[in-house]
Amino acid sequence: MKKLGKVLFYALLTLVVLLVVGISLTIGWRPILGPKARPLTARRFEATPQRLERGHYIATTLSGCTTGCHAPHDFSIRGGPVLPGMEGSGQVMPIPGLPGRVVAPNLTPDPQTGAGNWTDDQLARAVREGIGHDGRTLFPFMPYPNFRNMSDEDLASVVVYLRSLPPVHHELPATEIIFPVKYLMRSAPEPITEAVAAPDRNDPVKYGKYLVTLGSCRECHTPQEKGQAAPSMELAGGFPIGESGLIAASANLTPDPSGISYYDEQLFMQAMRTGYVKARQLSSLMPFEVYKNLTDDDLKAMFAYLQTLKPIKHRVDNSLPPTYCKLCRLKHGGGDQN
Ligand code: HEC
Repeated sequence: MKKLGKVLFYALLTLVVLLVVGISLTIGWRPILGPKARPLTARRFEATPQRLERGHYIATTLSGCTTGCHAPHDFSIRGGPVLPGMEGSGQVMPIPGLPGRVVAPNLTPDPQTGAGNWTDDQLARAVREGIGHDGRTLFPFMPYPNFRNMSDEDLASVVVYLRSLPPVHHELPATEIIFPVKYLMRSAPEPITEAVAAPDRNDPVKYGKYLVTLGSCRECHTPQEKGQAAPSMELAGGFPIGESGLIAASANLTPDPSGISYYDEQLFMQAMRTGYVKARQLSSLMPFEVYKNLTDDDLKAMFAYLQTLKPIKHRVDNSLPPTYCKLCRLKHGGGDQN
């Protein structure tokens, strides 16, 4: 009896050790323990005219918070403009293939359906650290893993701008992510405990990288499988976006002949502002309607950075029917030619 007890004890111990090692080496402990989060602070961002102006530029044009994801659109009109008066009021993300219902919430200061009762730090923590006002992990489709590079001053500007929006009463359902993603995604949030400095504007490549990061170009232009970006395919396109009737794969933005090696600054600026590449019309899924007011300097810096990317040979052609691509393992036009 004593011997059996000992065997059982060691068997159990081995199982526990295996489980601990297994979890540590695979999904980690966050899905079980909950996300990494820092406590909220009482900080308040002072509203200055400079911050309002910069926040408006980031939220409506560079990152498109209030004109891209956090607003309902009319895609029957070219460019898919925001429904009148609904800027910043949120929407259920109209994207098939997401693991559940993903809702970009109402960010306007409406106290019932919006962010009227959220503190400055609740907003700030959500934007860069991925913890919602209620402590919940945000689905990383909200690009907080990239926004963590947003400088402290730019973050303050965005919050100040959001506070200045007219309140819009817009009721939305809650986000509901399916099992097991709902637990796995708890590994995504990372607290920020140090100052994030503003990028050096005198270095166009560095500043361009910052703008491309805040502009969320990677979210669409880096192909991803099950929500994981393929690191060897950075900005090489092929990721299909949209739903029935309006579907396009993102373009290869690297300086390869299959990408945009033939672009010059002028052509880049034209594409970003008009949605036309010479005579070719881009799909409204490329948010040129959001980016059209980017300044010349910012567009030039973005282009300078894109030119420094590693050229990746990856043909994506939306005029061809979608076929399987062995490089990005997704289906897109011209996929079978890779
Ligand atoms: C919401 C998804 C999305 C985001 C965000 C996005 N794009 Fe795009 N982009 C697309 C899609 C889809 C296409 C392909 C459109 C087509 O072929 O009709 C595209 C096409 C382009 C093209 C045209 C390339 C060509 O075929 O000549 C350029 C240039 C471009 N994007 C640059 C950018 C930059 C720079 C950013 C970030 C500031 C960005 N995009 C952000 C979806 C996106």
